[in-house]
Amino acid sequence: MRKKKESGKGELLPSHIGIIMDGNGRWAQKRGLPRSAGHTVGAANFKKITRYCSSIGIRYLTVYAFSTENWKRPAEEVGALLGLFRQYLEEALRDFLNDDIKVRFLGDVSAFPKALQELIAETVEVSKNRTGMTLNIAMNYGGRAEIVRAAQQAAQLVKDGELSPEEIDEARLSSLMYTAGEPDPDLIIRPSGEQRISNFLLWQSAYAEYVILDILWPDFKPADLDKAIAEYQKRKRRFGGV
Ligand code: FPP
Repeated sequence: MRKKKESGKGELLPSHIGIIMDGNGRWAQKRGLPRSAGHTVGAANFKKITRYCSSIGIRYLTVYAFSTENWKRPAEEVGALLGLFRQYLEEALRDFLNDDIKVRFLGDVSAFPKALQELIAETVEVSKNRTGMTLNIAMNYGGRAEIVRAAQQAAQLVKDGELSPEEIDEARLSSLMYTAGEPDPDLIIRPSGEQRISNFLLWQSAYAEYVILDILWPDFKPADLDKAIAEYQKRKRRFGGV
């Protein structure tokens, strides 16, 4: 396993990585298992990859765990996902106290059951002063919904006389996103081969490098993350310049 100090390419490491954890359902179906079994293995892999990112010095990791559209899935699958979130947060509060990871949530978590909302609030609270990697878990998240929410907040500030319309610029809108205060993602990884954005970090990913890997999320290994970072390090980022 490549460690921060051994990588020798620390300065080129992406500061912020986003991951669309895709392919759990297909992984399970290929094995004749219910889709929820894929999510169980996917959740275990999420923990492994999160710790790996922290160990190599990634500063921000954003994972897409549940989109605003995922409520359309069969009730049994939604229930299994909510159960996994709850289990993960209980474990995080009980067993991961020594992990120097700050946890934040992106999305409208008020739609989740009360017990889950309480775990979310507690996880944010106990980890808020940690100085290591920030883990953003996008849950009931949609990029468009996030932009609409920011626009509504800006409109309210104008209405309240706290802001003039001319003062609504990119920096102001960024400060109204769930990711306020964080750098934009440098690298977004999508396993499972799908070549779609799927409403993930629409505002923040304007200049992100996308790496799509033909592997399903439950099979995604630390070596695949290394592969995606190596691909990112080969890219020449121009941010619209030359
Ligand atoms: C997409 O695969 C994956 C999801 C909708 C859920 C991702 C959630 C986890 C990995 C659970 C763990 C997260 C936490 C925070 C504990 P898919 O089901 O759309 O796969 P498919 O495209 O093959 O159907």
